[in-house]
Amino acid sequence: MSIDLIKIVKGISECVDLVNSIFSKHHSMVACIALNIAEEMNLSLGEKRDILIASLLHDVSAMSIKERLKYLKFEADFEVVDTYGHAEIGYRLFRDFEPFLNPALFIKYHHTYYKDIEKDKIPIGAHILHLADRVAISVRRDDNILSQSQDIRKKVYAQKNIMFNPDVVEAFLDASKKDSFWFDTVYMPLDALIEENSLDKGIDMNLEKLYSLALIFHIIIDFRSRFTAFHSCGVAGVAVELAKDLGFLEEKIKLIEISGYLHDLGKIAIPVEILEKPDKLTEEEFNLVKSHAYYTYRVLENIKGLETIKIWASFHHEKLDGSGYPFGLKEEDLSLGSRIMAISDIFTALTEDRPYRRGLSIYDALEYIKTLVGDKKLDKDVFSSLERNIDLIVEKLYYIKKSGIERFNNFYSDTEV
Ligand SMILES: [Fe+2]
Ligand SMILES: [Fe+2]
Ligand SMILES: [Fe+2]
Repeated sequence: MSIDLIKIVKGISECVDLVNSIFSKHHSMVACIALNIAEEMNLSLGEKRDILIASLLHDVSAMSIKERLKYLKFEADFEVVDTYGHAEIGYRLFRDFEPFLNPALFIKYHHTYYKDIEKDKIPIGAHILHLADRVAISVRRDDNILSQSQDIRKKVYAQKNIMFNPDVVEAFLDASKKDSFWFDTVYMPLDALIEENSLDKGIDMNLEKLYSLALIFHIIIDFRSRFTAFHSCGVAGVAVELAKDLGFLEEKIKLIEISGYLHDLGKIAIPVEILEKPDKLTEEEFNLVKSHAYYTYRVLENIKGLETIKIWASFHHEKLDGSGYPFGLKEEDLSLGSRIMAISDIFTALTEDRPYRRGLSIYDALEYIKTLVGDKKLDKDVFSSLERNIDLIVEKLYYIKKSGIERFNNFYSDTEV
C-alpha cells in the first residue's frame, strides 16, 4: 500500500483553514514562504520535507477560532500566551508518529523568540517556521503584494536577534529581493514547489502507519470538544464489531476501523464554538455542520490507496432512500461498509451527551434507529447485527468512553487552551 503522506497532510491543512475566512490558506502560504527560505539556505530534501509538514500543520492544534485570533498580531506576547498553548499541544499531538518527529519539534517552538532560547537548542526548521508564519500574517490580502514587501522586510529586519534567528533573517532578506518570492507568497504554487523538490517521494506508508496517523487525526477531530472526545473511537469500535459479524476479513476490518477514526475529519472545518454550543443549532449553523461529511470526502479524495476509506468514511450521513447528505446517494450507491458506518455513527452519537441534550438510553437509541430502518433509510441487516451484538457493543463503548475521557484529560493536563 503506497499512500501519499504529503497529500493527506495538505488536505488536513486546507480543511483547517476553512474554519474562518481570516485564516484562508494560511498554512499553504506559510509553507511557500518557508520553502523559499529553506531553498535559499540550501537545506537538504529531508529538512525541506520536515519544514513543509510543520508549516502545513503548525496551527492545526489551535482548536478554537479564539485561540488562532490571538496570534494575528506580529509581536503578540507569546511568552505569556503560549507557554503551553497550541504550539505545545501540536508537539504532543505529532511527536509519536515517526515522519512527524522533526516537524513536531518545529511546531513546539514556532512562536518562541530567538532571544529567549539557548543557542542551537532549537532546530533551524523552527526558526524558519516562526519567521515564515509572522511574514504570512503580515500580508494584507487585498493589497498589491509588491507594494507591501519593503515594509514587511523592514519589520522582519528590526527583529533580527530578537524574535528571529539572524541566519534565517539574512536568508529571508536575500530570498525576498526577488519579486517571485512575493508572487509565490500570494499565488502559493505549493504543488509545484513540492514536485520541483520531490518532497512527496520517499515516505513509505503502509497500513500500520496509516493506522497510527488515523489515531492522530482522531485526536485533532475529537479533542476539539469534550463532548466529542471519544466519538470517532466509538464509531470505529462499533463498526469493527458489525463488520466482523457481517463477515469482513482482517484487512477490511482494519480499513473500517480507520474509516471510523476519519469519518468526521471534515469537522475540523467547523468552528469549535458551534460544536460546543449549549443550545440547539440554528438552521444556518446546522447547514454549516452538514458540510463536514463533504469535506471529509474532499480531503480523502485523490489520495491513492484511500479509495475505500474515502467511500466508507464520507457517506456516513447518506440514507438508502436518497434523503441523506451531502450527495443524496441512494441504496444502489451505498456499499455495505458505508451502511455499517452510517449505523455505527448514529448509534454512537445518540448515546453520547451533547451540549444541549443528554445521551439516549440504549433502548431508546435502538428504537429510534429501528424507525429509520422501517422508513428504508438505514440498512436492516446491519441493524439486525447491531441488535444481535448489542451487549458486546455496549460493553465495548463503555470502555472506549472511559479511556477516551482519561486520554482527553491527560492530553490537556498542564495546558492552558
Ligand atoms: Fe501558531
Ligand atoms: Fe458526521
Ligand atoms: Fe460522526
